Amino acid sequence: MASVNSLSASIQQRVADALGADPLLRRSDRADFQANGVLGLAKRNKQNPRELAAQVVEALPAGDELIAAVEVSGPGFLNITVSDAAITRTLAARAADGRLGVPVKPEPGTTVIDYAQPNVAKEMHVGHLRSSVIGDALVKILEFEGETVIRRHHIGDWGTQFGMLIQYLVEHPHELDHGASEAGEEAGEASMSRLNRLYKASRTVFDSDEEFKTRSRKRVVDLQAGDPETLAMWQRFVDESKIYFNSVYDKLDIEIRDEDVVGESGYNDMLVETCKLLEESGVAVRSNGALCVFFDDVKGKDGEPVPLIVQKADGGFGYAATDLSAIRDRTADLHADTLLYVVDSRQALHFKMVFETAKRAGWLTDEVTALHIPFGTLLGKDGKPYKTRSGETFRLVDLLDEAVERAATVIREKSSELTDEEVADRAKEVGIGAIKYADLSTSLGRDYVFDLDRMVSLNGDTSVYLQYAYARNRSILRKAGDAKPVAHPELPLAPAERALGLLLDEFAETLAGVSETYEPHKLASYLYALASAYTTFFDQCPVLKAETPELRENRLFLCDLTARTLRQGMALLGIRTPERL
Ligand code: ARG
Repeated sequence: MASVNSLSASIQQRVADALGADPLLRRSDRADFQANGVLGLAKRNKQNPRELAAQVVEALPAGDELIAAVEVSGPGFLNITVSDAAITRTLAARAADGRLGVPVKPEPGTTVIDYAQPNVAKEMHVGHLRSSVIGDALVKILEFEGETVIRRHHIGDWGTQFGMLIQYLVEHPHELDHGASEAGEEAGEASMSRLNRLYKASRTVFDSDEEFKTRSRKRVVDLQAGDPETLAMWQRFVDESKIYFNSVYDKLDIEIRDEDVVGESGYNDMLVETCKLLEESGVAVRSNGALCVFFDDVKGKDGEPVPLIVQKADGGFGYAATDLSAIRDRTADLHADTLLYVVDSRQALHFKMVFETAKRAGWLTDEVTALHIPFGTLLGKDGKPYKTRSGETFRLVDLLDEAVERAATVIREKSSELTDEEVADRAKEVGIGAIKYADLSTSLGRDYVFDLDRMVSLNGDTSVYLQYAYARNRSILRKAGDAKPVAHPELPLAPAERALGLLLDEFAETLAGVSETYEPHKLASYLYALASAYTTFFDQCPVLKAETPELRENRLFLCDLTARTLRQGMALLGIRTPERL
């Protein structure tokens, strides 16, 4: 497990030594890299920048193994070309490492990620897609970098709505009984349809029968008081819903572990104390009976302050009390130093107020970073939030099924030799990958148009394009027979080989950037650039028919490292890379 110095880090160091200041290196299309740091230093020292640049060129070691050429350009930029040998050597070091030279954080911290938070007794809809997909990618990326990650699925499993459901179940005890042989996906669907049926039936009675309404309200009180029979009934709803959630997450190819599901109810025991602490410290005050926190900069349209309500006038605790208690748990008990919330951007104000309150209360200190990672809305082709024709929100499973179906069509057209079973297997990997990739390749805050035709297209910035690049690559490696991938630093590189090589070397830095800003789309666009560079290489540089055995080995080496980098990168996004397509 050796981390590898990237070419840019090595050059940065080399030029910094010669310049005595930060060279401000970046990739450039004029040469491989450009250093702009001469300008600033010359200005500070009142020197002529072109002269200073020339001195730096002089000061760089001659006959360098790393740098093939340096030129002064413009007002004093340095255009730097890396030697072919250095590229191949650096890549060989990456290839020799199981982690492709990606370093493990020297001092990992603990991050709690709050994501994939569906609501009990309710359908999962498109809104739950993004939180799940983005959260899962962040978990994987941060864990890969060595961070200790604690996953929290803050499911909506508590609230007054359960009074009605539980009361109905008490009066109709067989409504959640299971059929004889329910398994897998069907079990999930069966659970959801039972829950839906029960919800509708109880709603109807609730709306028409005053006495049932009264009994339901009494149930809420029993539930909050922890009455064992009521709690047992409530648990049945949670268990039933989990069967459904798990079936949807299976389909989404996202692992949800039972121990990580700590829903709103998980903080019940803390709510009273949370309120007490807030009130005693004066962070929260009573206003019309409710316990509220006020903010100078949060006002409604009428100019009146909009408070965060921690406890309602009737004594009931709201969403805020739960989130504040969860912060106490995550900092004091789980010892997290970073808290991430992958939640819809519409909840931005809620989190702003919750974080600010937790700071005032001393639960969030300077040592802890709390971040809302907001994401935008899925839009239809008309640019409005994605809804069915009758204006209802889409069920998440329906979207997933449709993506898999479309993928099957694409695969059948492209690969006629596959059996029906093979098509069905690949279609899952391609269809679900397409949905995840479309989501992850969009920068987080943005809304995006949910367009399945585009998502499963073979051309353009799609997961299918990446998966095909991977599969084609693997097929070359299979056909290579006895020829092995071997790096040959002594060989000069063609332009397409250099371009591919320089990109391959950027994998570790790309990941570091992603985990610094929590933006998976940077990884997605890197992988797309890599697959595109590979496609160009593949078109311009014969691999199996290369002129010499050494050249063939070196090109196979580039193929192999590309495949490994694509596979690792896609895996971090939660997307499969089938070996054959
Ligand atoms: N269950 C909520 C929803 O479906 C999201 C929960 C977000 N997480 C949190 N800690 N508040 O909108």
